[in-house]
Parts: sequence; C-alpha cells; structure tokens
Amino acid sequence: MTTERTFSIIKPDATRRNLTGAVTKLLEEAGLRVVASKRIHLSLRQAEEFYGVHRERPFFNDLVSFMISGPVVVQVLEGDNAVAKNRDVMGATNPANADAGTIRKELAESIEANSVHGSDSLENAATEIAFFFKPDEIVG
Ligand code: CMP
Repeated sequence: MTTERTFSIIKPDATRRNLTGAVTKLLEEAGLRVVASKRIHLSLRQAEEFYGVHRERPFFNDLVSFMISGPVVVQVLEGDNAVAKNRDVMGATNPANADAGTIRKELAESIEANSVHGSDSLENAATEIAFFFKPDEIVG
C-alpha cells in the first residue's frame, strides 16, 4: 500500500445544506485523513481555470456558475491509495448511478449538484492541491 494525497472539494449544494460534517464523516470512515481544509468562495476566474479541462463540454458554463454559487470546502486527503479510495467513497458522477453508501448516493442532488469533487489521478491530485494550498498549509 502507498500513502497518497488527493484533493477534494465539498461543493456548494453540500455546504448550502450544512453537510460539510456529513461528507467529511464518510471520507474519514473510508480511511482518509483530512490534512488540510479551508472554506472559500471560488472566483469566476478560479472556477474557470480549475475546470479548464472541461471548457469545451456543453455543461461547462453551468458547472462554473454552480461552483461559484456558494461556499466550497477544499481539502487535502491522505491515506493508503487515497486517490482510488476517495473515488470509491464519492461514488459515480451521477448520483442516480452511484452505489449505496457512497457520498453521492446518500447526499447528492444531481449530476451537477453532486456534492463532491475528487482528483482522478495522482498527477492531477498534485496539480489540484497546489492550485489551492501552500506546502505549509498541509499538516499530515
Ligand atoms: P466533478 O468531479 O467536479 O468534475 C466535473 C463536473 O462536471 C462533474 O463533477 C459534474 O458535477 C459536472 N457535470 C455536470 N454535468 C455533467 C455531465 N453531463 N457529465 C459529466 N459531468 C457533469
């Protein structure tokens, strides 16, 4: 097993419904440790840059509008195989397709308001962590 760090966002639908703790509980129960966390309101520019890979997708403008519609909680998660473990506990992108017990099945509202984002690879995790956190803000 390899200790990894991955990046997570608790999205505006979850902060609006006061589910920061409920999401974090499921992450922690899955064996992930929160080693950095901050509640922020993304700027338009930050959201467009963060989701730049989706710029050509038809849902891009709606996604960006949603992500700046309220506060988010950005987190660094640490644990054995953290990238895959986080994707497992998040569940499928569309909550309708997510397995029981996953964050999206239990808490999410829709494919857009799907409560959490998680890095899809170790390489992207490093990029996404560096987008929001300085090294000294991460305490393992
Ligand atoms: P996330 O993991 O944050 O990465 C991109 C996001 O786009 C995704 O979660 C979804 O919330 C959002 N999204 C909105 N509509 C779609 C769609 N039709 N297909 C995939 N992702 C979508």
